[in-house]
Amino acid sequence: MRSLIDIKDLSIEEIDELIVKANDIIENPKKYAHACDGLKLATLFFEPSTRTRLSFEAAMYELGGNVLGFSEAQSSSAAKGESVSDTVKTVSCYADIIAMRHPKEGAPLVASRKASVPIINAGDGGHNHPTQTLTDLLTIHREKGRFDNLTIGFCGDLKFGRTVHSLIEAISRYKNIKVVLISPVELKLPSYIKHDVLRAHNIEYVQTTNLEEVMPTLDILYMTRVQRERFFNEDDYVRLKDSYILTPEKLVNAKEDLCIMHPLPRVNEISTEIDNDSRACYFKQVLNGKFIRMALILKLLGVE
Ligand code: CP
Repeated sequence: MRSLIDIKDLSIEEIDELIVKANDIIENPKKYAHACDGLKLATLFFEPSTRTRLSFEAAMYELGGNVLGFSEAQSSSAAKGESVSDTVKTVSCYADIIAMRHPKEGAPLVASRKASVPIINAGDGGHNHPTQTLTDLLTIHREKGRFDNLTIGFCGDLKFGRTVHSLIEAISRYKNIKVVLISPVELKLPSYIKHDVLRAHNIEYVQTTNLEEVMPTLDILYMTRVQRERFFNEDDYVRLKDSYILTPEKLVNAKEDLCIMHPLPRVNEISTEIDNDSRACYFKQVLNGKFIRMALILKLLGVE
């Protein structure tokens, strides 16, 4: 039985297979309409979500399956003190696969050791978000046609941004990748990721606070929200939250085929004026998220 806790749980070949499958689902949705007839997905969300939870639910419905679950810890017996282990042992009795989001780093890993069905990490604290990474990879592949030979700028909250951590882990396995880390000093990428991922894979990277300066070099710009829920001090959040706001003026020197990504939700990081720019890919990401999650559900359930 396979779970997906960390993007490293999937080999490059398996990621390629998921992308091929997701593209086939996009082209031939009817072929998959009954693939999960009689099967159930449980969505256990101990933290708020719009895209991840609803795209998992839409994915399972489009595969012919059914969905159960909860969208906040307060409406589950976690509010009475039930452990994650007991919760997933219980839900394993009702569902064939579980997608779980939790504010504590490592909670989905613990769940995967206790559950008798596959667990999908739908985001754990400031740690990882592997299905967002699959979404991002499908988007990059559909927009650029490749994973090699890309310069990717990550901008915003690189300290707490779990989508950044997982995507850096994934993209570092490809050839001739350059990473540009753009953040306030207080929100720099954690040292362990620079050491264990970027340096370990010999990835060329630079750190800067100046987005405009590096803009002309980028093939992909991955904007992120400052993660208010991870701050201990509201004053720090208020001081840092608007560090980067992408406006049309800031794109003047950007490449014509720049791909602007954002895992969403957006607060102020990208001006809505950019939404109609052909380089804006963040709502394409939203749609791609449903298709790659369909492919992932099929893989983890072993459905041909
Ligand atoms: N990208 C993402 O995880 O969005 P939600 O928090 O809305 O699920």
